[in-house]
Amino acid sequence: MRKVIIAGNWKMNKTLSESIELANLIKRSLYDMTEIEVVICPPYTSLSDVSEIVRDSAVKLGAQDVHWEKEGAFTGEVSCSMLKSVGCEYVIIGHSERRQFFGETNETVNKKAKAALAAGLRPIVCVGEKLGEREEGKTFDVVKDHVENSLAGLSKDEMLRVVIAYEPVWAIGTGVNATKEQAEEVHAYIRRLLKKKYDDSTARLVRIQYGGSVKPDNISQLIGQEDVDGALVGGASLKADSFIDIVKGCLK
Ligand code: PGA
Repeated sequence: MRKVIIAGNWKMNKTLSESIELANLIKRSLYDMTEIEVVICPPYTSLSDVSEIVRDSAVKLGAQDVHWEKEGAFTGEVSCSMLKSVGCEYVIIGHSERRQFFGETNETVNKKAKAALAAGLRPIVCVGEKLGEREEGKTFDVVKDHVENSLAGLSKDEMLRVVIAYEPVWAIGTGVNATKEQAEEVHAYIRRLLKKKYDDSTARLVRIQYGGSVKPDNISQLIGQEDVDGALVGGASLKADSFIDIVKGCLK
């Protein structure tokens, strides 16, 4: 069975003191939440302190990006071993905001995913179409391109450690979430791609999160879909109450 995974992507929000406050509230409520995997992804500047807060609780730590090189003259970048050294278990890679504003491509996502896996981090790899692409009927083509090329060359064992986040770009931060049918259709398609590339058991084990305007009032519909295994939450992860409600909304 696939364990539901809810990850909070704080994006470029929360100073250190704000991060500490939010992490403490989340931990207080979810420290023993073992039915659902809970991950919070603060900005780099807060990782170390948040790590201390969630240590010895069920809440896990993730980063929002990483560089593929091990070390060296790459001003502004952060390596996998640096993330590991502050207690990260997960790292979001290829978020649409990075693809859109920071030149991220399938090729760089692939390098980052491989580096993360080699370092023992679990990548949350984001895929998803823009509004225009959906309107032109290209959703499946775009998702196929993202899945196949961002995850190129991964062994079966590596693939099993990856979480895929399907995030239609038109649903991110807009308040317009994909309907449960729209989400399920693409999640099932991604699983078929994995079956073709690997095998049935691999396809059935890889977790596929939905992301894009997930809120406490739509999570239960989305999580009720057969191929939706969790959520990557942006805006609603910035307040403890809404994030906790989303996690609890996944309990059957
Ligand atoms: P949102 O963001 O929940 O604010 O739509 C989701 C994401 O970008 O991961």
